Amino acid sequence: MKKNIHSLGLGIIFASISFGAGCLESKKNQPAPVQEKTASLYERIGGQPAIDAAVEIFYKKVLADKRVNHFFEDINMNKQRGKQKAFLAAALGGPVPWKGKDMRKAHASLDLKESDFSTIAEHLQATLEELKVDAKLIGEVMAVVATTKDAVLNRKPAK
Ligand code: HEM
Repeated sequence: MKKNIHSLGLGIIFASISFGAGCLESKKNQPAPVQEKTASLYERIGGQPAIDAAVEIFYKKVLADKRVNHFFEDINMNKQRGKQKAFLAAALGGPVPWKGKDMRKAHASLDLKESDFSTIAEHLQATLEELKVDAKLIGEVMAVVATTKDAVLNRKPAK
């Protein structure tokens, strides 16, 4: 009886070793796991709630700045905030494509200068810093915003 229990025990150990080896073997023959998709900048920054919060703070800064607030004197700021939230979300890789005006048409009549663009970009950067967004992510967002510069300033793209 004692002997039987002993051999049964060994049998179980042996069975589990060979089961384990079998598992390893079958994993080797499985296709490589599908690579995880890299999260978009939109997702990494915190999605629509993060963008909405940023745009609210951003326009407070813009409207308090005498260098640029005159551009927004006759603008419906509720609509503008909504448009900016949607634009940034789309530009950062969000799920809803931008359906508004293209950046050249939207700013064509404003006769904007390089300094106006820098001021606006400065306020966005300060907003993201205030919200404690990771510095690397801020850099990525600002790089995306910079891609709109030629269109916003209504000038030919640099070659
Ligand atoms: C920094 C990059 C910029 C981005 C991403 C941006 C984005 C936008 C967007 C999405 C709109 C709405 C377009 C539409 O109606 O469909 C808009 C409109 C407008 N933007 Fe910008 N903008 C930028 C720079 C600037 C600058 C530098 C100024 C002025 C200092 C400015 C002033 C305006 C004004 C006044 C409007 C309203 C135009 C109108 O409704 O007639 N923007 N912008």
